[in-house]
Amino acid sequence: MRILSGIQPTGGTHLGNLIGALRHYVTNQDVGEAFYFVADLHALTLLPDPAVLREQTRSTAAMLLAVGVDPERSTLFAQSHVAAEHTQLAWVLQCVANFGELSRMTQFKDKSEGKGDSVSVGLFTYPVLQAADILAYDSDVVPVGADQKQHLELVRNLAQRFNNRYGDDLLVVPKPLIAEVGGRVMDLQEPTRKMSTSSASDKGTVWVLDEPATVLKKFKSAVTDSETEVRYDPAAKPGVSNLLELLHIATDRSIDDLAAEFGSNGYGHFKVATGEAIVELLAPIRTRYTELMTDPAELDRILANGADRAREVAQSTLDRVMATVGFLPR
Ligand code: TYM
Repeated sequence: MRILSGIQPTGGTHLGNLIGALRHYVTNQDVGEAFYFVADLHALTLLPDPAVLREQTRSTAAMLLAVGVDPERSTLFAQSHVAAEHTQLAWVLQCVANFGELSRMTQFKDKSEGKGDSVSVGLFTYPVLQAADILAYDSDVVPVGADQKQHLELVRNLAQRFNNRYGDDLLVVPKPLIAEVGGRVMDLQEPTRKMSTSSASDKGTVWVLDEPATVLKKFKSAVTDSETEVRYDPAAKPGVSNLLELLHIATDRSIDDLAAEFGSNGYGHFKVATGEAIVELLAPIRTRYTELMTDPAELDRILANGADRAREVAQSTLDRVMATVGFLPR
């Protein structure tokens, strides 16, 4: 059993990344052989400043370690360190993918909106590189947030199409692992939109590294609704339901219990309690992150070891694929 997932380094790590994905990296690292990587090749689609990309790739690796990814039990690496294997496999998969299905990717549509013909080809083929990331490791399970569901469906389709063309079981068809509760953390200011790195205002996004006072302030000013009842109903009460999910995850108490406790007394106390629980959840992560960032050489060593192991696995899949499609052996 192989588990694999990746996170882009640019923009910072927010509560949505943590709740929707990173904590599942940690809980799944003993379920099988786990591979987690910093998706710096994907981050290049937006052409970040090179110094910023380098810095954030390292700090995102520190964040994964800080939340509990253990390099003794999981392979942690930077995607660009295995770029040769990932991009070569991506080329083969680009020949399997078709223009129409990539045009229908909602993330591409969102990110390319208003850019016309100047939108980069990398942004368009982004999900095929993601397919290569996953298929290179014969991944069985991919823990992600709900926003990656469509990309994962594409990956499954590409794997199945490849297998139909070249032979059963050549590529493992992966399954997404998307949590029912917490799979889509919403923006605190606009609770009908997912929390993201690119929100209009920083007030709705809680960064894992935010100061406790800032976290509390963001929760106190979270948008709810004009009623007074704490009740779980994501369609009718998206703001309150989002807070209930977060409080449930941070405290391990059931949503029903929490709704009963806070009842119909308004939202003030409920928002503060949720903010405080999240502050507690984030505190040890911030401390550990700060420690890890004092030793960049150690971080680089962990990434280098991870890349060695990752390359072994990806290279063997790539060899299999190259031989299968009809390239002459060297
Ligand atoms: P990225 O960097 O945008 O996000 C990293 C992870 O966080 C999840 N996530 C959320 N979960 C819940 N609520 C939210 N508001 C929220 N926002 C983000 C994402 O679903 C993701 O799991 N394309 C990917 C990176 C990638 C990848 C891969 C993932 C590249 N190759 C291969 C898995 C497998 C991305 O941009 O995620």
